[in-house]
Amino acid sequence: MCGIVGYVGPRRATDVLIGGLARLEYRGYDSAGVAVIDGDVLEVQRRVGKLANLREAITVKPIEGSIGIGHTRWATHGRPSEENAHPHTDCSGRIAVVHNGIIENYSDLRSELAAAGHVLRSETDTETVAHLVEAYYEGDLVEAVRKVLARLRGSYALAIVHLDSPDEIVAARRDSPLIIGLGEGENIVASDIPAVLEYTRKVLALRDGQVALVTAEGVTVTELDGTPAEPEIIMVEWDLAAAEKGGYEDFMLKEIYEQPKALRETLRGRMGADGVIQLSELAMTPEQVAAIERVTIIACGTSYHAGLVAKQLIEAWARIPVDIDVSSEFRYRDPIVDARTLVVAITQSGETADTLAGVREACERGAKVMAVTNVVGSRVTREADGVIYTHAGPEIGVAATKTFTAQIAALTVLALRLAQAKGALSEERVAALWDELAHIPDLVEAELEDLGSIDECALAFKDATSSLFLGRGSGVPVAMEGALKLKEISYIHAEAYAAGEMKHGPIALITPDIPVVVIATQGHTYEKAVSNIQEVRARGAQVVAVATAGDDEIAHHAEYVVTIPRVSEQLCAIPATIPVQLLAYRVAKLRGCNVDQPRNLAKSVTVE
Ligand code: G6P
Repeated sequence: MCGIVGYVGPRRATDVLIGGLARLEYRGYDSAGVAVIDGDVLEVQRRVGKLANLREAITVKPIEGSIGIGHTRWATHGRPSEENAHPHTDCSGRIAVVHNGIIENYSDLRSELAAAGHVLRSETDTETVAHLVEAYYEGDLVEAVRKVLARLRGSYALAIVHLDSPDEIVAARRDSPLIIGLGEGENIVASDIPAVLEYTRKVLALRDGQVALVTAEGVTVTELDGTPAEPEIIMVEWDLAAAEKGGYEDFMLKEIYEQPKALRETLRGRMGADGVIQLSELAMTPEQVAAIERVTIIACGTSYHAGLVAKQLIEAWARIPVDIDVSSEFRYRDPIVDARTLVVAITQSGETADTLAGVREACERGAKVMAVTNVVGSRVTREADGVIYTHAGPEIGVAATKTFTAQIAALTVLALRLAQAKGALSEERVAALWDELAHIPDLVEAELEDLGSIDECALAFKDATSSLFLGRGSGVPVAMEGALKLKEISYIHAEAYAAGEMKHGPIALITPDIPVVVIATQGHTYEKAVSNIQEVRARGAQVVAVATAGDDEIAHHAEYVVTIPRVSEQLCAIPATIPVQLLAYRVAKLRGCNVDQPRNLAKSVTVE
């Protein structure tokens, strides 16, 4: 949902801005722009489309100057066009603003500004901010911004420069992410950490309602009312290599192959010498766990699918009833949540607007809220009562892959811990499940080396316009995730169904042109899945079966068979996911799609 960068220091600002925007392009790529103070001129360059267009324009006509701001856009207000591209400037052309978020009262502000004689040139909500700064400016940019912020409703991460104060960037945030990379004699404002990693791993996480005055020498953070704030500094554990492609063709492929590592890191240290699952983040006594009457999971997109896996595990092992809702529904439906409910909010980015709103709703109703996130210092970490981190490292590809399986790993640990605290599983059973879980990263590693058969399956999908994904039990969320991956990056329509539901509708769609993926791993519903394969094949469909290694029978039923390592039924969501991720990837590549930046999508959805 838009990426912003600001740089002040000794380097040529455009180099840092373009480099930073390239690492934020996953947030949006409808247009890009920069504004740089070069002597006594504020130079603005904007281009529609991907960053490459802006980069080319700047190569042809370089901009000097060592302070500036940049933006990569995911359009909300106003179509993708040059006029609507950020940075936006005021009437004088001396003030420039980049923004991520939505100014909800922009329409009123536009009317007010127009009545006062301001000429607004775009259709965006952001341009109002530039003109408001112009209106309130009396020689002190921070003061002017403070007054402007008091007028704004909605969400924002902002970076603002003014030709009158050519050494300063003013940054502020509310409900949209913003960090500041602290360098030696230089500082970089950005929506996300990868944009600053080339220069520093020391990061200031700006909090909601804070305003930062950023110069080359330092950063001064104040609250909205002007009182000094204690900045929160984080040392980032991973380095730039983790945010680069490292020899892979795409980030998505690299991230698929990083799953063994992400799983190992996420599971590390979770089993104590005493046989007790270590999850101090839960911060609940056995009595408090015993008092939990229900778990409610909220999440969006891929994280929701990880939640579906967690529901099955928590119910099976801890015997606690689990509700699950997409965050955007949960928050608006007067949910039944109280002090006896444990709410688990799953969000890779920790910044998804609907999930954050759901967390707030749950907190207000007295529930204990655990967040599962991949991003240290993200917003959800400040709002939830406890945080379980996945340690997947940065995920740049818009389609989530390694963070999904890492979420399942973290949630499996949570389910085991709840079961243990409730006394619902014997010590031996917990130990056996843990042993198997701890072995999954190695199994996935071997699996990734042995998935050549996917290429052949991908050919069956290449020219399809529609497809079906079926599964039972833990295969249902895997089927849903497989369908989501395929539609996200290859633009082939894909629907997922619990296989038992197929005869209640989807079977009507089946023709020889509709390839069907069936998650048919071994378990107590295996034979039913085989029957479903027979039913779709009888109607001419081509079937890709995701089956368990050693299952010689399945090849008699499906055209294509992809095998996964043998694990117990309840733990097979992770290994069964790998082939559907790779299938989507290969199909998208065959169709010539940009897998890292699929159309219309953004990695982090910070607006409702
Ligand atoms: C977007 C992304 C998805 C992601 C979803 C939820 O739609 O493209 O990959 O699953 O948001 O994001 P979150 O950060 O809350 O997990």
